[in-house]
Amino acid sequence: MAQGTLHIVGVGPGDPELLTVRAVKILQAAKVVAHFCRHDKKGHARTIADPYITPGTQDVRLAYPFTIEVSVEDPAYQRDIQGFYDACAEQLAESLAQGQDVVLLCEGEPFLYGSAMYLFDRLKGRFDTDVVPGIAAMNGCWSQAQVPMTHGDDVLCVLPATLPEAELAHWLGQTDAAVVMKIGRNMPKVRRALEQSGRLPDAHYVERGTQAGSFTQPFEKCGDTAPYFSLVLVPGRKGVR
Ligand SMILES: C[S@@+](CC[C@H](N)C(=O)[O-])C[C@H]1O[C@@H](n2cnc3c(N)ncnc32)[C@H](O)[C@@H]1O
Repeated sequence: MAQGTLHIVGVGPGDPELLTVRAVKILQAAKVVAHFCRHDKKGHARTIADPYITPGTQDVRLAYPFTIEVSVEDPAYQRDIQGFYDACAEQLAESLAQGQDVVLLCEGEPFLYGSAMYLFDRLKGRFDTDVVPGIAAMNGCWSQAQVPMTHGDDVLCVLPATLPEAELAHWLGQTDAAVVMKIGRNMPKVRRALEQSGRLPDAHYVERGTQAGSFTQPFEKCGDTAPYFSLVLVPGRKGVR
């Protein structure tokens, strides 16, 4: 029996009009659609894909065993999260082995901090795979905020706010342009790193870019908390003509 293909589909930053034509075609034809989610909620990628999924499609929920209860520094985190991804991969492998194509959704661009990569790594040698690029959150955010990012020879650095403060300040001081992602509870640390690197006055904050309730303002005006869907843009200005 022919095996199925795993389609990993990037669904963009939130606005359901910001999926590629190819992503929409694959979603409309899908019989099995998998997505990562919290145990008590529908996943965000699944919500974005909603308008394109036909009734009767099988939904496979891949519910994380924890969200913030266990620290990533805790050895138990690595053990449990790897076990979780192993189990998810085997769940999708069962359908693929039976000849069923499976679509795995991913917010933004799948290969940019996307959980889908962990299933791709586990399944790529065993099954045919197809990866449909998505518009990354940063693309959606800088377009919506109308912040041109890289000019001429500018170097762009993408930084997770989960890095130690000194590392954040170092990279912000070295690069021309920067995007700081995964801000959430790291707002005070990001502020200090922007201050230390002298980049605070140029930094823009974008919350829920392209989604309902989206919001942007100079970072300097922000408080100490931010939701999960937020990032910071620091534009480069090296080759402005
Ligand atoms: C695990 S990463 C996933 C990134 C995604 N694969 C991409 O291509 O952008 C999650 C982080 O992306 C950022 N993010 C995702 N969607 C966003 C949005 N609509 N507005 C602002 N930030 C967003 C936030 O910084 C969030 O913490």
